[in-house]
Amino acid sequence: MTADAAQTWHYGLVARWWAEFNLDGPEIDYFRPFVEAGQPALDVACGTGRLLVPYLRAGCDIDGCDISPDMLTLARERAVGEGLASPSLYAMAMHELDLPRRYRTIIVCGGFGLGGNREHDSEGLKRIFEHLEPGGTLVLDNEVPYTDGHQWKYWLDDERAELPRPWRHEGERRTGSDGTEFELRARLVAFDPLAQRVTMELKAAIWRDGERVVEEDHELRMTLYFTHEIELMLAAAGFVDIQLQAGYEDRPPAGNDSFVVFIAKKPTDET
Ligand SMILES: C[S@@+](CC[C@H](N)C(=O)[O-])C[C@H]1O[C@@H](n2cnc3c(N)ncnc32)[C@H](O)[C@@H]1O
Repeated sequence: MTADAAQTWHYGLVARWWAEFNLDGPEIDYFRPFVEAGQPALDVACGTGRLLVPYLRAGCDIDGCDISPDMLTLARERAVGEGLASPSLYAMAMHELDLPRRYRTIIVCGGFGLGGNREHDSEGLKRIFEHLEPGGTLVLDNEVPYTDGHQWKYWLDDERAELPRPWRHEGERRTGSDGTEFELRARLVAFDPLAQRVTMELKAAIWRDGERVVEEDHELRMTLYFTHEIELMLAAAGFVDIQLQAGYEDRPPAGNDSFVVFIAKKPTDET
């Protein structure tokens, strides 16, 4: 397996799309009590601050980090625009996490498996472990690989023959707060079932007067993980008391849940 550079698509217009349109969701209330109960906290892959900014607004002591400086710029703008103090945000990949503080809680929402490869992700969990205080808690979510019926079929050899998928002529279009009309079009380019690795491409555009006036090309690589793999990876990184929840609710996961949440502890000095 190659240790190639991490690659995400959360830059430029994609970052603006996130800042405009990804502001809510059940994750915000789900992760909140963990952050409130254990501070200081760190939001790894915090993006444009969908979770971070509401927690800052509630007075929590929480820092953020993300591989994309563009996402962080928009997170900071949002926090400062709300009259909050400028947050401590670090442009850093998860597997390169190296921060001056240690945390009681670290959350990862929608960020695990993105950008890097399996080695990066194992290293990322080790770095997170190092950044927790003894007895601290990691709360990390993962979308199971069998959620998306369209993507699931590419585990089969014959189906992969049709990759890369063609571009759609038009993608999802939405109008931003200043009237800018954004469009995103994604396609699956490659799937490696041995590495469980997906490569996607994305065209992000701005439309004006019925034409695309700006267009950007981005690529995202992500590794798909089954639930028991992540449990093993967490244990290998040193975590203990690993609990599973699902659906952003206080209940164990079932076979039809799309998102599994891992709540894992760094041992205390005594243990
Ligand atoms: C789906 S967004 C989630 C953002 C935020 N946690 C939320 O829930 O709104 C994924 C974020 O992960 C970041 N990211 C992707 N790969 C990363 C990596 N290897 N290390 C750190 N951040 C990464 C992206 O830049 C993006 O901001």
